[in-house]
Amino acid sequence: MNQPAPDSNDHHTSASDGTTTPDDDGFYRGSFFGRRKGHKLRLHQADLVATLLPRLALDIAHPAPADLRTLFTPAVDTVRVEIGFGGGEHLVAEALAHPRTGFIGCEPYVNGMARILTEIDEKEIGNIRLLAGDAAELLAWAPPHSFARIDLIHPDPWPKRRHWKRRFVQDATLASMARVLVPSGEFRFVCDIEDYVAWTLWHLMRSPDFTWTAERAADWQSPWPNYTMTRYGRKATREGRKAAYVISKRTAG
Ligand SMILES: C[S@@+](CC[C@H](N)C(=O)[O-])C[C@H]1O[C@@H](n2cnc3c(N)ncnc32)[C@H](O)[C@@H]1O
Repeated sequence: MNQPAPDSNDHHTSASDGTTTPDDDGFYRGSFFGRRKGHKLRLHQADLVATLLPRLALDIAHPAPADLRTLFTPAVDTVRVEIGFGGGEHLVAEALAHPRTGFIGCEPYVNGMARILTEIDEKEIGNIRLLAGDAAELLAWAPPHSFARIDLIHPDPWPKRRHWKRRFVQDATLASMARVLVPSGEFRFVCDIEDYVAWTLWHLMRSPDFTWTAERAADWQSPWPNYTMTRYGRKATREGRKAAYVISKRTAG
């Protein structure tokens, strides 16, 4: 995916689909501040966006079913979420490895959505549902205790201090995640930007809802077992940055 990282490209962003009002800087309100559109889709991709996406997309304009497992056929035992899946490498690998788990992938960037639709179509994956929008809206829509795990992998870093409020991890989004995670559910966070890792640990530590599970450095310095590296993960390695792999558990009660 050739999506520019939104740390230096403020002027590129525009209200391209008109679904949300841009703020003073030309960015969307809510938790998504990046680009929705990139290069033109290939014909087959455009066709999948027109035909397959409507079948897999969640309808968050209407109230959620009480049990989100009912969104999946064949039946699943638990539901997980990946926020900002980008090219979808991690989400696709997890869905294939865990056929009894339903996955909701959330990605506002149309080209990422087109890419995962191609994979879902080619590999005949039946346990992924999609939201082409802001994950904060998914978290607000879902009933309490819906998800066993929420993954946020290489989120947009927003390194400039004046943009920190655009980072996905905030007190409010952690509280939203806590509401929709099952007791002892997990929030997993991967990031190669030191400052954002520190930011997230600080928010997790002051949250009454989460406990960081690491007991030794090795627990967060290397990927958890069977982790699938993403495009942004490979880019970080190429550029000499080491990622942190933070697993935090929903605090009981
Ligand atoms: C730096 S990219 C990483 C993509 C992918 N996770 C990876 O590791 O290759 C961050 C992604 O998060 C998406 N994103 C940003 N804000 C979001 C939000 N509020 N809800 C869902 N996705 C979001 C962006 O569109 C972008 O594709």
